[in-house]
Amino acid sequence: MNDISAIPAPVTQPPTEPYLRLSNLDVTFLAGRAPVHAVNGVDLVVAEGETLALIGESGSGKSVTLRALMRLNPPRRTKVTGEIRVGGRDVMKLDAKALSHFRGGEVAMIFQEPLLALDPVFTVGQQITEAIRRHETISREDARARALSLFERVRIPSPQKRLDTYPHEMSGGMRQRAMIALALACNPKVLLADEPTTALDATVQIQILLLLRELQRELGLSIIFVTHDLGAAVEIADRIAVMYAGRIVEQGSARDIIRNPRHPYTIGLLKSRADGAMVKGTRLEAIPGSPPDLSRMPPGCAFAARCPLAIERCREEVPPLVAQDTGTVARCWRVEETHVLRTGSWSNEAEPALASTR
Ligand SMILES: Nc1ncnc2c1ncn2[C@@H]1O[C@H](COP(=O)(O)OP(=O)(O)OP(=O)(O)O)[C@@H](O)[C@H]1O
Ligand SMILES: [Mg+2]
Repeated sequence: MNDISAIPAPVTQPPTEPYLRLSNLDVTFLAGRAPVHAVNGVDLVVAEGETLALIGESGSGKSVTLRALMRLNPPRRTKVTGEIRVGGRDVMKLDAKALSHFRGGEVAMIFQEPLLALDPVFTVGQQITEAIRRHETISREDARARALSLFERVRIPSPQKRLDTYPHEMSGGMRQRAMIALALACNPKVLLADEPTTALDATVQIQILLLLRELQRELGLSIIFVTHDLGAAVEIADRIAVMYAGRIVEQGSARDIIRNPRHPYTIGLLKSRADGAMVKGTRLEAIPGSPPDLSRMPPGCAFAARCPLAIERCREEVPPLVAQDTGTVARCWRVEETHVLRTGSWSNEAEPALASTR
């Protein structure tokens, strides 16, 4: 008889652990009358050098997810469960010292509003120099030389002179570049970008997006880029994850999400874009209704109340994330029917087409 253990195993690539992994992350705020379930069972992975865009309406839990990754949610009023691993480390178990190195040295964050991240009473050069010196034993001169090269890297003109300016003396785009330089000061591997271009005008937005993409390539950064803007997401991301009421409802490559969305919410978001990313000639539509109250999460799919395809099961059971033949993974019981939403109008025309499928 053949002993199968004697047969050499096929040569396969060893499974590589993604650089960043969130597993079954729950974040609940406990301060108010009822607990607010802001993040509900989020699973996300980001590989080294990969950019993931996290998109979704206001209040869907994007910022809370990023803050959880850096353990920045208020500790006494927040219950966080699940697993957060970055660079092989269990972030939930870091002690105060390890956490302060982790923030900035491993993972850094940039925000929509640089004035919140930059201190008004110090020059930007002083702030970057101090950030470096908090993490490393290095002379003030050497730290300043590093700050200067960071300013060059983020393409701030007259960098030497600009190091000595205060945040309020800079234009919005320039401030955003200075904040990116500050975020990169301690050589992080992961950059969390929370709507970093939303407050800027269109041409400056594009410049900042291009800069981030270039930095990501040159430095091999992993980036999570939070945005409401699908156009920005496509511009910068390898993959897109769509969030609704604290859950990932669909994710996939940027290309598959745009071309073959399967979740009704993703389809709704795409249809609401002015440039008609779906079918040319279809009307611009916003998704009627609003997200659920996170302190009273419905038992089933959180999108059911706004979904023209919803059936009883959708209101009763949360659908699992299932891999689709089109390449994305989507959380929807009615996924076989959602194609009607892509061509028809959001509520009216979809109805007759669906009557026979209910
Ligand atoms: N510290 C807190 N205490 C109580 N509730 C909070 C706290 N922080 C956030 N929330 C709630 O968690 C939910 C998710 O908020 P979050 O800021 O993550 O949304 P978001 O997706 O980033 O939205 P936006 O696109 O508007 O930035 C919201 O309902 C918000 O009110
Ligand atoms: Mg936010």
